[in-house]
Amino acid sequence: PGLNFVAKSAGKLYFGTATDNPELNDTAYDHILDNFLQFGAITPANSMKWDATEPEPYVFTFEAGDVIADLAHENGMLLRGHNCVWYNQLPSWVTANNYTAPELAAIIQNRCATLVGHYRGQVYAWDIINEPFNDNGTYREDVFYNTLGTSYIPIALTAARAADPNAKLYINEYNNEYLGPKSTALLDLVKELKAEGVPIDGVGFQCHFVVGEVPTTMVENFQQYAAIGLEFAITELDIRMPLPATPEMLEQQKTDYDTVVSACMAVPNCVGISVWDWTDKYSWIPSTYPGYGEACPWDANFVRKPAYDGIVIALENR
Ligand code: G3I
Repeated sequence: PGLNFVAKSAGKLYFGTATDNPELNDTAYDHILDNFLQFGAITPANSMKWDATEPEPYVFTFEAGDVIADLAHENGMLLRGHNCVWYNQLPSWVTANNYTAPELAAIIQNRCATLVGHYRGQVYAWDIINEPFNDNGTYREDVFYNTLGTSYIPIALTAARAADPNAKLYINEYNNEYLGPKSTALLDLVKELKAEGVPIDGVGFQCHFVVGEVPTTMVENFQQYAAIGLEFAITELDIRMPLPATPEMLEQQKTDYDTVVSACMAVPNCVGISVWDWTDKYSWIPSTYPGYGEACPWDANFVRKPAYDGIVIALENR
């Protein structure tokens, strides 16, 4: 009947997808998206980001974000908020003004309070901090870290908790899915935050992978997070391939989707899985990785690919 139905039957909280406002004008797209049996959670791919919601200092616009929140509500879906603090898709004023540490701290505090507060009661989980680390496990030297050191992280999390005590607060990352310095750094950060009493509920593993190159240490890695009692989720799954696709690569992609979803199934603390849009028609991949594509479980004509079956196999095998 649908991926969310199967995921829930298997004990997960949801199978979800990212979506974006312009896509909602496509009625054939909506016909598949607006189905709770298929998708039990949605994440706005762009419309709750900093550039979309606070284009000028202390001036907020929520119209586009509200469309996604309303859609989730109307369809009985969970909403994943994305995101509060990220180095990318920042309006230029954040970096251009050379803010002092106290000024930037106030800006972050106000942003998280206002954004999370606006959606209070509507969001299952918020990606409060997005992509804070470099792949070698050092902190990304973005405007937040360069101005405030690591203190921007507790500032954001604390403001978010106060604004919506029932929303789960996540740190979301990529290349943290496997054992390695980035995952270790993130795990250490979470332990430190917990020890200091800073609110933190979850970790997101984005999972933007390449066909035939899915990491082999996902389960072991996930178990480390489960061991400290943390929930986590696969937040942005897609598995791209060099174009043109071949039947062999589509079969490998099926195996790869099975592998990734099975890793979530293997660890109960993995609460859900979201794909970073479900159709190749609206995938971010071709524009960012020229020559690559076909990363989603549905093709550009909304036909299910073998990858879809790979997901079902993984969800049903537990
Ligand atoms: O908003 C402008 C619009 O005004 C303009 O006309 C248009 C012309 O190109 O660009 C629009 O901005 C684009 C934006 O998406 C909204 O459509 C940007 O160019 C484009 O770069 C941006 O891409 C987004 C990307 O994040 C930016 O980093 C993708 O849609 C979005 O799917 C992607 O999502 C990220 C997650 O947030 C974090 N993890 C990685 C993931 C994939 O990059």
